[in-house]
Amino acid sequence: MESIEQIRVRGGGPLEGSIPVGGAKNSVLKLMAATLLAEGAYHLHNVPRITDVDLMSDLLCATGCSVARDGTTLRIDVPAEIEPVAPYEIVEQFRASIVVMGPMLARCGEARVAMPGGDDFGPRPIDMHVRGLQELGAEFDTAHGYIHARSQNLQGARVLLEFPSVGATENLVMAAVRAKGTTVIDNAAREPEIADLCELLNKMGAQIIGAGSSTITIAGVDSQDALHSADHTVIPDRIEAATYLCAVGITGGEITVAGARHEHMSMLCQKLGEMGMRISHDPDGIWALAPRRMTSADCQSLPYPGIATDFKPFLVTLLATADGVGIVTENLFSGRFRYVDELRRMGADIRTDSHHAVIRGVERLSGAPVRAHDIRAGSALVIAGLAADGETIVADADHIARGYDDLAGKLRGIGGDVIAE
Ligand code: EPU
Repeated sequence: MESIEQIRVRGGGPLEGSIPVGGAKNSVLKLMAATLLAEGAYHLHNVPRITDVDLMSDLLCATGCSVARDGTTLRIDVPAEIEPVAPYEIVEQFRASIVVMGPMLARCGEARVAMPGGDDFGPRPIDMHVRGLQELGAEFDTAHGYIHARSQNLQGARVLLEFPSVGATENLVMAAVRAKGTTVIDNAAREPEIADLCELLNKMGAQIIGAGSSTITIAGVDSQDALHSADHTVIPDRIEAATYLCAVGITGGEITVAGARHEHMSMLCQKLGEMGMRISHDPDGIWALAPRRMTSADCQSLPYPGIATDFKPFLVTLLATADGVGIVTENLFSGRFRYVDELRRMGADIRTDSHHAVIRGVERLSGAPVRAHDIRAGSALVIAGLAADGETIVADADHIARGYDDLAGKLRGIGGDVIAE
């Protein structure tokens, strides 16, 4: 994939037209990890061209798989034997790699995974992944920067998660698929990406019910032959869709986010409605009509179906130019307000205090050189640039390419003056 260093944006008028949304990053990465569970040829459709998919492909190849792309279809060939190791050079570049632990453990009886890296916000422990897998009988030790999980006999168990962690739920589901007996995960994450993962697993022969609810029940299939390869189409990326909805909220205008699913982001749509956007689901996706200036509202990030923490940088940016004062509360990640300093450099009036941001809307932002600290912060700065006077240059745009397939080109398609360089 071509590397991107910076994105140049010039503020302009309203956005108009149809903008397509790709497959969900946070789904496809887990679907790719799930293929490790059984030998065979898999075809994943609607796979976005993003760096994280390339990294997960490298990780699968390091285990012995081969991965080939044809347009938006990824073909993954998983051999009869895999090497259950996730090497540091790959894992340090993206945190989602931790989800290979569950399938490797289930398939090979062990997994050696380098301690994860990833986004530049707050400490992101994996204690719930480890505790849950221990309940299924896995043993852990760590040495030389690697976590080593072992169990020749995973046993179904009841696991109560302290918090509905997305990654812990995914790792547990994938391990439990091959355990002896039944596993029940309580307080499971309910994100649509979990339901998508379970749909693929069921196509592969797993027996999972309750995905998408807070209790997931997995009847383990303990023979290696019971699981087989399958094909699957990735669900649309609700976070990418949210980026475009907030973009039109900032500039005003009328867009259709083609392929997006309203039911995956109802709480956000409701909030945008409260702020003055007309928004509804459309046969093609989500239709939105935004006034020249939105009205402020308060919001807080919560696990699904609440407003996702990933939407928050876009909402803060939207509030930066809305009429009034809004308070945004972050309940998931402690360090996730770093981009606020960048927005301030663009003239935003934002105060932060631990988990809260108070945003007093200004009429117009002012274009400036800024820096992307993570994927969502980066795309938020791009959409801020759409509503700023003059030019905004977003540096470290490689973060954005981790999760967006041609953000600049897609925004140009609805009238944004955005160039990736
Ligand atoms: N947590 C723990 N211990 C654990 C696991 C999580 O304390 O063992 C904490 C985390 O530190 C965090 C909270 O629980 O404060 C939520 O973490 P969760 O495990 O739910 O998140 P994740 O699986 O690491 C996924 C997405 C994130 C998204 C979060 C929340 C992927 C690859 N990542 O991360 O997406 O913000 O869920 O919805 O699926 C992104 O796409 O840019 C992104 C960061």
